[in-house]
Amino acid sequence: MKFFIRIATIAASFAMLAFALHLTTPISGAQNAAFHNAPASAKSAKNPFQGQDAEAGHSVYQNRCAACHGPAGEGAGNIPSLTAGKTQGASDGELFWYITKGDLNNGMPSWEGIPEKERWEIINFLRVLGGSKPGSPRVRLSAEEAVATAAEAPAPKAPFTDYRYEKPGVTRKITLADLPEPFATSSSGNGPQVVARPENAWLQVPAGFKVELYASGLNDPRLIRTAPNGDFFVAESRKDTILVFRGITADGKPQQTETFATDLHHPFGITFYPPGPNPQWVYVGNTDSVVRFPYKNGDMKATAPPEHIADIPGGSGHVTRDVQFSLDGKKMFVSVGSASNIDDPDTTPAEKNRADVLEFNPDGSAMRVFAYGIRNCVGMALNAKTGELWCSVNERDALGDNLVPDYITHVQEGGFYGWPWWYMGGHQDPRHKGKHPELQSKVITPDVILQPHNASLGMTFYDGKQFPKEYAGDIFAAEHGSWNKSVRVGYELIRVPLHQTGHATGEYEDFMTGFVVDNGHVWGRPVGVTVAPDGSLLVTDDGSKSIWRVSYTGK
Ligand code: HEC
Repeated sequence: MKFFIRIATIAASFAMLAFALHLTTPISGAQNAAFHNAPASAKSAKNPFQGQDAEAGHSVYQNRCAACHGPAGEGAGNIPSLTAGKTQGASDGELFWYITKGDLNNGMPSWEGIPEKERWEIINFLRVLGGSKPGSPRVRLSAEEAVATAAEAPAPKAPFTDYRYEKPGVTRKITLADLPEPFATSSSGNGPQVVARPENAWLQVPAGFKVELYASGLNDPRLIRTAPNGDFFVAESRKDTILVFRGITADGKPQQTETFATDLHHPFGITFYPPGPNPQWVYVGNTDSVVRFPYKNGDMKATAPPEHIADIPGGSGHVTRDVQFSLDGKKMFVSVGSASNIDDPDTTPAEKNRADVLEFNPDGSAMRVFAYGIRNCVGMALNAKTGELWCSVNERDALGDNLVPDYITHVQEGGFYGWPWWYMGGHQDPRHKGKHPELQSKVITPDVILQPHNASLGMTFYDGKQFPKEYAGDIFAAEHGSWNKSVRVGYELIRVPLHQTGHATGEYEDFMTGFVVDNGHVWGRPVGVTVAPDGSLLVTDDGSKSIWRVSYTGK
């Protein structure tokens, strides 16, 4: 609905422009080879965002273009395909010119109303839709091509892996010495096609554990967090809503479900303040602010409108914001991902105070940067044993299948984690050659190096009593799954064993797998994970739009 209203407004304003153009543009003579008669200046215009994370344009494309051109640019009826032919033959500049002006008489709206950057980003994404161009990171596999790719692909070389070899209980360890050179392979556009869970498909966990479906039919379940009284708070980011689930019935379902709050702004992070058994507030990380609601144990609906606590950098790019308090309740941490794949913050104002963990007083005052160069810390958790803040981080794309690894790490105050000029091990990103030599030695090696492109999202420390003793204090993290890898990886819940020390050794373990149908199709994508009062784990999944429960039965 919203979508069509917007189109209508843009279309109406373009109608007037088109009229003016019509009067002043001479009728062109013979057809030339230019795309929709684009002027020569359009053809040669350079895409300032060429080579950057094509995924940035994905959501804009879905919101603005997919309704007509199809989710994969396939076209329909008299709406042209964008994956081949004319569009892929046009230069970026010609496409920019055409998209900006539209062709209202023929049903193509003008997009001059959306920011220039977004128009360029859509074009990057159109290239992904269009398939490979030699030497470019824009390689898009259709679901069918992806299936064939995996059929032909050799087994991955350890310690790297892919979905075909993920198996509950397998331990993995990646070290800096394992990292390939940048561009050792080409870079793939291999986003999944999400399909309904096939009959008989189920999740696999180590022996002694079992998986049940706790809740289904949700809209967009993302972060999940357990309140001190044992209720489960779930952010439905796209719906701007926070839900609350209470209890687990004998057949493994919620006893009660409520909507805690609506009309938020892409909420993600949820945390309770002050820390301890009797919170007075629940804090929520919107994409551009932190707000809080008065809260007492047992509330399932907000009793007052949200109070604005702090503005945080919003805008395009990574939209999730997690919020956590230090164990003593004196510091509030907010994780803010980058606006882009690898834009230089020195020259890109939109990157200011992004790719950081920010620190505030609990009332939202005195913002400072706690740690920087963390491209996208989606999930945060406090380690009760050490008091340290930990992050689950998405690293950058388009350097090849096995670069740059995602990671999970404790976060050092003032620490620099590399982005965008460097990456782990003091490696310079080739796209920022020669910049910031003084930072090379400062790049911190993260505690646990994960598979590149895994998309590591929510994390939690296991403080339950149900699992065997060796799980006490371990980390569980949700790996949403890759798009930038030729054979997909991730799409699993992992365990990071801390061996009761509070510290990681660098290893992690596949824990719950089975979301992938084949290299082109998946039926689920884990996002958040939390520990229930009975010691089971609840895992949100925005692919099948449900919540899974993993418990230990010993059988
Ligand atoms: C309301 C439906 C609609 C929407 C929304 C729409 N388009 Fe179009 N688009 C069309 C139609 C219809 C045409 C064919 C116009 C013609 O016949 O010349 C077209 C043509 C195009 C072409 C030229 C293709 C060719 O082969 O000549 C490109 C490129 C394009 N659109 C890109 C986009 C992008 C990018 C977006 C989103 C920002 C978008 N369109 C949104 C309807 C739409």
